Amino acid sequence: MQSSTILPSMEISDRAKSIPPSITLAISAKVKEMKAAGKKVIAFGAGEPDFATHQKICDAAIDSLKSGATHYMPSAGTPEARGAIANKLRTENNIDCTQANISINAGAKMSINLALMSILDAGKNQEVVVPTPAWVSYKPMIELAGGSMVEVPTTVDSQFKCSPEELEAAITPNTKAIMLNTPSNPCGTMYTPEELRAIATMLERHPDVYILSDEIYERLIYSDIEHLSLGSIPQIAGQVITINGLSKAFAMTGWRIGYVCAPENVVKAMNTLQSQINTSITSFCYAAIPIALEMNDEVESMRQIFAKRAALMFERIQKWPNVECAQPTGAFYTFPKISYYFGKTSPAGTEITNAVSFAGALLEETKIAVVPGDDFGGCGPDHIRLSFACSEEQITEGVTKIGDWLAKF
Ligand SMILES: Cc1ncc(COP(=O)(O)O)c(C=O)c1O
Repeated sequence: MQSSTILPSMEISDRAKSIPPSITLAISAKVKEMKAAGKKVIAFGAGEPDFATHQKICDAAIDSLKSGATHYMPSAGTPEARGAIANKLRTENNIDCTQANISINAGAKMSINLALMSILDAGKNQEVVVPTPAWVSYKPMIELAGGSMVEVPTTVDSQFKCSPEELEAAITPNTKAIMLNTPSNPCGTMYTPEELRAIATMLERHPDVYILSDEIYERLIYSDIEHLSLGSIPQIAGQVITINGLSKAFAMTGWRIGYVCAPENVVKAMNTLQSQINTSITSFCYAAIPIALEMNDEVESMRQIFAKRAALMFERIQKWPNVECAQPTGAFYTFPKISYYFGKTSPAGTEITNAVSFAGALLEETKIAVVPGDDFGGCGPDHIRLSFACSEEQITEGVTKIGDWLAKF
């Protein structure tokens, strides 16, 4: 019999029903179940650094809490925190901005949601062009804001990057924005400054199209490609909404600190929306922002560790039979193409039909968890994503084991 504490349910909204649950959740649930049963699982699913937030950053928040920062705060964020972000963007990213261009939000995810809600209208067939594979949340966020996502598919051969011509071909009179994420989740690759300048030249021909530039992984880069912020290119600066945050570069995913740099009218709209939705980020987190943004040496040490792992993982994956993989140049992901194995039978006898059954069989037979690429769009269903936010030992053991498993197909 059901417990009397379970409430009877009523109808939920079409909006809520339209958002599909992530396929990757099934893998995460299985991993948890296996770990709870005492099995050793090597997980390559993490979307966050495996480092602790630096003590100095924690201390800034603790001191702020102790000194009484426990009340409502301005929706846009404190002037000190917004000033520190504007200063970072001017000096590190060459974006000509002031604190009036900054909105601080509960994670970059909320920044993107608020930005999309500020520029899109429901019921007007507005489109947002997104090169795919792309981060899983873009599509639901665009749709919740009333728009629809138009994919520009890319492939491993172009390191998952699209050309200005391909992007331009997707632009219609209904296009409201383009979303670009460099370095990319899930692809682990990034655009060169020349490629971004060419995209900017194309965008000059479309002055009514916004560009949301998601630069959350800008500090985690592993080749001689430099990160360029589209917002630093004066000809298109009025079209660019720069998205960033503290989650990835400073190992602060749980803090929920993201920010946007945009033209003042967009920022004002975002702040008004935020004031009605969640007021502001948590009061005592603001004090940590200026401290974190000063911590260049610590970010560099973490980047160097990720760079070693990126090289190790790529070197090992290249030994996998019949798999193509782009060299990871940014973020903390590799995105190998495993579709050769579709239609084949795994060593323990599972029929592999797609990336989901591939990941399921891999987990069952080797106790190694990866993310099937289906949720990322485009050619994603031919790929799996492995995060290298884990130790070198785990990479060596896990990636070698996957290679041995593949050799037995
Ligand atoms: C491409 C991309 N943008 C934005 C985010 C959101 O970051 P946050 O944790 O600050 O909301 C993520 C998180 O995984 C991401 O991968």
